Amino acid sequence: MKIELDHIYNCDCLIGMKQIPDGTVDLIATDPPYRLTSRGSSGTMSGYWATDAARCGKVFEHNDIEIEEYLPEFYRILKPDAHCYIMCNNLNMPHFFEVISKSKFHFVKLLVWDKVSAICGKYYMGQVEHIFLLRKGKDKPINDCGMSDLLSIPLQRDKDREGNNIHDSQKPVQLFQILTAMSTEEGQTVLDPFIGSGTTAIACLKEKRHFIGFELSAEYYAKALKRIKAEQAQLTLF
Ligand SMILES: C[S@@+](CC[C@H](N)C(=O)[O-])C[C@H]1O[C@@H](n2cnc3c(N)ncnc32)[C@H](O)[C@@H]1O
Repeated sequence: MKIELDHIYNCDCLIGMKQIPDGTVDLIATDPPYRLTSRGSSGTMSGYWATDAARCGKVFEHNDIEIEEYLPEFYRILKPDAHCYIMCNNLNMPHFFEVISKSKFHFVKLLVWDKVSAICGKYYMGQVEHIFLLRKGKDKPINDCGMSDLLSIPLQRDKDREGNNIHDSQKPVQLFQILTAMSTEEGQTVLDPFIGSGTTAIACLKEKRHFIGFELSAEYYAKALKRIKAEQAQLTLF
């Protein structure tokens, strides 16, 4: 498989990333799969608020990859002085910190995504998610030092014709536009190894960056392709 810019691939990212040469990607921005449960508990939800998926720790079919499996590959393929953003939920945060602290990455900061609206939870209502900002190599400030580390962007999900979410973990394009704009220049390349419904690719198109994406699920891959084509068609109109 030859990896081309501005393409997404329906494959396991651990296989796809092997095709990317060392030190060639300007930024990795991703929202990886992770378990929603810990020691039999669904963490933030309880009783009838917990979905069947959350009770068994799964929100989509493929969510059993661990950070220790992909983090070394992220480091290898990033350029020498580059940023890496990885989203994380509360339950997985201790494990992410442990693996990151043993890796070659520098931990820079934990950003907060404020979803503006909250969902029910037994330990306070849930309104935020976190994003690890990591650095490979030398100190590299973001492009606008006036940008807050609290990113308030309403949670919105695209629906299909039946009114269902196209992806239950879809993130706002604007969130990934900010990460991309803060850590790359126009024409540079952003990788999302867990691209889901294609959000990072849409953000890259809007910000004039190149993208590469991997998605294991054939269903999400097809939805992502459809979204990307629609965005490309819209951009050619202007
Ligand atoms: C949290 S979701 C990403 C959602 C995305 N940010 C969006 O806005 O649509 C994680 C995605 O990773 C995919 N995935 C899980 N394991 C994978 C693997 N080994 N390689 C590639 N994709 C994988 C899942 O199918 C899921 O769509």
